[in-house]
Amino acid sequence: MPKHLLDTERLTTDDINALLDEASTYLSPTGGVRSLTQPLLGQTIVLAFFEPSTRTRLSFEMAAKKLGATVLQFTPEGSSVGKGESLHETFRTIEAMGVDAIVIRHAVDGVHRELATWTRMSVLNAGEGRTAHPTQALLDASTLRERVGSLEGLRVAIVGDIAHSRVARSNVDVLTKCGATVVLCAPDALLPAEPWVDRYERCATIDDAMRTANVVCMLRMQRERFEAGLAIDLEAYRASYALTTARAMATPNVLVMHPGPVNVGVELDAGVLELSQTIIHRQVTHGVAVRMAVLRHHLV
Ligand code: CP
Repeated sequence: MPKHLLDTERLTTDDINALLDEASTYLSPTGGVRSLTQPLLGQTIVLAFFEPSTRTRLSFEMAAKKLGATVLQFTPEGSSVGKGESLHETFRTIEAMGVDAIVIRHAVDGVHRELATWTRMSVLNAGEGRTAHPTQALLDASTLRERVGSLEGLRVAIVGDIAHSRVARSNVDVLTKCGATVVLCAPDALLPAEPWVDRYERCATIDDAMRTANVVCMLRMQRERFEAGLAIDLEAYRASYALTTARAMATPNVLVMHPGPVNVGVELDAGVLELSQTIIHRQVTHGVAVRMAVLRHHLV
């Protein structure tokens, strides 16, 4: 396993399976995540989030603590970044304290990779621009594997704002490596004009996705990332791409996923969160177990 987790592309299928196998050992049959003997006792992990987060930040913290590590929170607000300190010098300062791993979320593509070229800390990507969110893709695969056994032959539709989604980019890679067929479902304005898109099947509407897929991964409409001039007609979008409670209930065998946070009433209705086919909160639980596996593999 590489020292850093920068993206999923550098993980082999064997690496992915090893992480998912280990994550499954942390999941308790009663639904939660076990506390363990403490293999990371004496190790220090910094969580450096330059963008907002609830799930990823808290689950990395919980995972690290369950493994016995010391966790430090770096928040740009209130740090010397506010006095003009550069990102490079900030990371050198954190490294000089003897930190073993840094978990980073940053809006700028390449920050994680640049840091990994010189630091002795393990760099773990907790979200990078629109490019990569490797632990999200791993936890999604882990959640699905628990529910259906194997991803081999599964048909998974990724629905919504694919253009601005790092989750979609990491998910297509992990799902494909695990043997699933990925289908993309988005209006043209929310599909990236990038060559990788042409490698995947497309479906025209959420109704097509619900009719033909085993799983739908709904994506948040990331309006905060919209380029100037991009305007989406919300009513038209919902008519073709939103998962309403009625649509979900009409196809109860289709599993519903979403990385969160959900824009309730935009890409997905509140009633969908309560249906038994919806595994969004189970994804959150798997987030802790998968991040435990990631920390243990990259730090021990
Ligand atoms: N899915 C995800 O990355 O959620 P957070 O932004 O809450 O971490």
